[in-house]
Amino acid sequence: MSLKIIDNKFVKEIYNKTEMINYYTDISHSIGLFKCEKILLEKHLNFEDKILDIGCGAGRTTISLYNMGYKDIIGLDIAEEMIKCAKSLCSNIDFVVGDATKLEYNRETFDKCIFSFNGIMLIPRRESRLKALKEINRVLKNGGYFIFSTPYLDNKLESKFWTDESIKWKHRNYNRRLYEFGDILIDDFGIEEIFIHIPKISEVIECLNEAGFEVAEYMPRLNICSEEERIEEQLDDELFWIAKK
Ligand SMILES: C[S@@+](CC[C@H](N)C(=O)[O-])C[C@H]1O[C@@H](n2cnc3c(N)ncnc32)[C@H](O)[C@@H]1O
Repeated sequence: MSLKIIDNKFVKEIYNKTEMINYYTDISHSIGLFKCEKILLEKHLNFEDKILDIGCGAGRTTISLYNMGYKDIIGLDIAEEMIKCAKSLCSNIDFVVGDATKLEYNRETFDKCIFSFNGIMLIPRRESRLKALKEINRVLKNGGYFIFSTPYLDNKLESKFWTDESIKWKHRNYNRRLYEFGDILIDDFGIEEIFIHIPKISEVIECLNEAGFEVAEYMPRLNICSEEERIEEQLDDELFWIAKK
């Protein structure tokens, strides 16, 4: 049996799986916004903003923000089962199926766009992530903000795993289904292959600039605050990014 090509279709299939739906529904109910997200989003969002929550999953961030008073919010996700689930959790919010790399909105529609929980790094290939950033830039109003999180390689490169990876890529001995150094397939939630790209900080800055953004700020999650123990266990030490159009 031939192995699947890692593309947006592959990502969509993974996030439509019951195991994923159950996990994201559970955290939507039982956790809501992480403490650090709440601090950051309350600082940068205004109640009158038109907000697009990209990669909203089962609506963890969308529903929390709506309940906090950010009523002009749309949740968008590539996985239709996630959207069905989000709709069943909150029927007042407009949840839509859509792809970050081809957003079906006019230019300058939104004041703020969000892509939480490292979601943008689930998009395979640098050129597609760049396409998503260009689309987000297009639909944002001038002076609008894109707020998102990513894992990062800079703090991991010394580890055995990444030292081995770097040798494999140098000797062209890597998994040929992957595209760039930093790409990995992880086994989690009982699903064998979940794709994620772990970028270097310089790569994120380069892509943001290429897409027309100015980096306003980026910071490690733990510089904002730490979470309750049961939540800490599920999080990496990712970076939060605030980019301005
Ligand atoms: C890590 S999950 C986070 C879900 C939700 N934001 C949360 O924090 O609970 C990332 C989500 O991004 C979605 N996603 C991945 N690629 C996407 C794309 N190209 N366009 C829109 N959504 C995408 C996945 O389907 C998944 O639901």
